[in-house]
Amino acid sequence: MTPIGVLVSGRGSNLAALIARSRRNCPFRIACVISDQPGVAALELATGAGIPAFCHEKTPGRKKSDFEAELVTRLREHGVEVVALAGYMRILGRTLLEAFPGRVLNIHPSLLPAFPGLHAQEQAHAAGVRVAGCTVHLVDAGMDTGPILDQVAFRIPDGLSADDLSLRILEHEHRLYPETLARFCRHELSWTDGQVRVFSPPASLGSVWEAFADSHWAGVEPVEPSDDGRTTVAVSACLCGFPCRWDGRDRQEPALLQALGARKELKILAICPEVLAGLGVPRPRIQFENEDPDTLFDAPAIRNEQGVDVTEVLLRAVGRITDRCARFHVRAAFLKENSPSCGTHRIPCRGERIVAPGPLALRLGAAGIRTFSEENFTQGLEWLDANMTSSPGSPGPDTGTDGGKS
Ligand code: GRF
Repeated sequence: MTPIGVLVSGRGSNLAALIARSRRNCPFRIACVISDQPGVAALELATGAGIPAFCHEKTPGRKKSDFEAELVTRLREHGVEVVALAGYMRILGRTLLEAFPGRVLNIHPSLLPAFPGLHAQEQAHAAGVRVAGCTVHLVDAGMDTGPILDQVAFRIPDGLSADDLSLRILEHEHRLYPETLARFCRHELSWTDGQVRVFSPPASLGSVWEAFADSHWAGVEPVEPSDDGRTTVAVSACLCGFPCRWDGRDRQEPALLQALGARKELKILAICPEVLAGLGVPRPRIQFENEDPDTLFDAPAIRNEQGVDVTEVLLRAVGRITDRCARFHVRAAFLKENSPSCGTHRIPCRGERIVAPGPLALRLGAAGIRTFSEENFTQGLEWLDANMTSSPGSPGPDTGTDGGKS
């Protein structure tokens, strides 16, 4: 769950929409709200919602870089990774932008690049445009000039007053901003190598994707798919296109995703031990400490990059996933080849990749479930064709087994 900091200056209706979204299964949480104006409604709203909120005012004569450096410190104190401007009435300088490169978003009440700056709605009304809308964009040092992430447009009914136009635009803002921010925090929209990239899963995976996307990034267990008699295959979240790490570069090529999406006779159970273990997404790197493949799981020690021992929670999650797969009569699982918990045969160990199946592959194997990786998924699909039977009956009871050692 990505911690975001919201910067405001006034009313806070977009802040309210972001707070409402953050309360549903959501890939972001609002870590703090900062206003450059004292006593504004947005601050009251945040405080009332139990969110740390305070005023950071620019006093006259204070250098912009000093003002922003302090702002950055306060945002960092709250763990902020993405900054969302919601009616923040200041042009940002280098200090803040460089502290959160490509991670500052803004909502603007016009279809940029038309009508940048103040009173965009009135500008649009005065210009007599027939179509209006709003834009979510990344912030750069200019006035509403940063790369566009998403927009919504609508036709203006004849005779609409300037005030009514503003209200209509605002209603769209309240839907567009939270969803764009959610997509950004799920890495479906990103700023990579100097351009906005949009990641879309194959349409045929729509329902799997939707069921899993928010829960994955929120770090909670997804709702189980209903039983409809189709053969269920388990697929690592990362192979479904949900990377574990912030930079999104670990996102898999969609070949496996495309192939699975095309197989309508298969139902997909997306699985992720790290998420179930509560390690958070994006999560720090984790790896094994014990270098000996033969004794690796007799004395496992899996640490994250801060040195925290995550062995127990991870192995417990592996156990729960294995139970879940058994309940769904899963015949085959597609796991990432080299992930620490679900690696099929190469797992990271002290910076090396050692040849050993990861704990999930071992547990699934012991439960009679075949495992394949992104490297041999074609073989996996062929195996399924040759061995496929419908998953019989409805899912069995949850036995709740703990512990993941095989
Ligand atoms: C909104 O119209 C937004 O597009 C613009 O500032 C206004 C803020 O309104 N950037 P609110 O404070 O979110 O109600």
